[in-house]
Amino acid sequence: MFLGIDIGTSSVKAVLTDADGAVSGSASRPCTVSRPHPLWSEQEPEDWVAAAVAAVDELAERRPAALAAVLGIGFSGQMHGAVLLGHDNRVLRPAILWNDGRSHRQCATLEETLPTLRTISGNIAMPGFTAPKLLWVAEEEPDIFAALAKVLLPKAYVRWRFTGAMVEEMSDASGTLWLDVGRRDWSDELLATTGMTRAHMPDLAEGSDAVARLSPDLARRWGMPTPPVVAGGAGDCAASAVGLGAIAPGDGFLSLGTSGVLWRTTDRFLPNPAMAVHAFCHALPGVWHQMGVMLSSAASLAWAASTLGAPEAELLAPLGDAVDAPSPVAFLPYLSGERTPHNDATLRGLFAGLSAETGRDALVQAVLEGVAFAARDNLVALGAGAPTSFDLAGGGSRSRLWARICADALGVTIHRIEDGEVGAALGAAHLGRMAATGESPATVCRKPRRLETFTPDPARAEAYSQAWLRWRRLYPLAKEFAS
Ligand code: XUL
Repeated sequence: MFLGIDIGTSSVKAVLTDADGAVSGSASRPCTVSRPHPLWSEQEPEDWVAAAVAAVDELAERRPAALAAVLGIGFSGQMHGAVLLGHDNRVLRPAILWNDGRSHRQCATLEETLPTLRTISGNIAMPGFTAPKLLWVAEEEPDIFAALAKVLLPKAYVRWRFTGAMVEEMSDASGTLWLDVGRRDWSDELLATTGMTRAHMPDLAEGSDAVARLSPDLARRWGMPTPPVVAGGAGDCAASAVGLGAIAPGDGFLSLGTSGVLWRTTDRFLPNPAMAVHAFCHALPGVWHQMGVMLSSAASLAWAASTLGAPEAELLAPLGDAVDAPSPVAFLPYLSGERTPHNDATLRGLFAGLSAETGRDALVQAVLEGVAFAARDNLVALGAGAPTSFDLAGGGSRSRLWARICADALGVTIHRIEDGEVGAALGAAHLGRMAATGESPATVCRKPRRLETFTPDPARAEAYSQAWLRWRRLYPLAKEFAS
């Protein structure tokens, strides 16, 4: 058996996989985000540890024999978050998360300080990334910066607490803006832009490498006779790719999670910063990837549900499994700003086209379509060579309607797949398995069973193309409302 633990933003999830790589049990614990000031988004690292231990405790209680048979563990996690440790390894302040927009001024400073920043890192300095957050801390909280000894990403922090080993792997390290992504090594020049050196960074490994063993205390707690091997793991996007078998160049997936991701595996480092595309290492040796990232994807539907005061399922039910045409209402999903293609944390969302007749259904349809249109912007950003077929992952993949809208609005083939929501935790378990058994990625990372395939309907796809062009013309207004 293998265990994958995903340190998400809204919850920590643990899944067990069996010898065939199938999910045989899962447990999760919710997490809360604190937003003490506009643009801020923070969590307490201790809460992730408590949630991860509680989720595995639940599995151990429900499936003691399965837990005792775990050979390998992988961690995945929300990317980019900065966990700051002092010399005594104490956490110095709450972690600053991937969707925190406070450091946009520092991004400009970083790019001015090192004109080759985009060439080395392959990416634009965006406020979600880790380096600008550290520059913000240096400027705004100098006492904390002076006390800083190590910076860990969320899953590396939890892994350290589970094993005693401070290690980072390539896919998550790519999102710091301190990695030379082409060379798969920390960059001294990039680190220097934030007044840091390699001493502030953990050692690097590949995601499928064995990097540690579970601590004897936790192994005893969960009835494991030998502490399992722990893998390098992955950032949640690369972990999802591993779970979806998106490991060969050209493989693609679209994730409708809290954030949205349009992914393409590449055989080399392929930067495209002009379009705010992320060019990162994959979690497996010798492969890289490109991705467009939307900051509010399923988060937009969750927002609509809380604002309209009804559960998501109740909002979606009246729309059925298909709509005839685009909603007359347009929605721009920039509730937390946007990364690809706009790279602007201050953008704000919009509804347009409201009339006295507009009801809840039209608003909900507009939300689904607005996210699909944002994904189309991401497809355009990936440019020539982008996949034409995508497996659908994340919580949004539950909706057949959303899958169909994505096929029509992007003009691509969309597959709904088995276990589409398990995503990152499944990939993490696969990485734990490779680390423990030495099996190859091709053996372990199989593509999930496809439940249903949606191809674009020519008439609807044409209507959606027109609606997307109109939707794009609203972007200057989203800028007008920037916070
Ligand atoms: C990716 C990103 C998000 C988080 C969400 O660049 O910021 O997908 O990893 O967990």
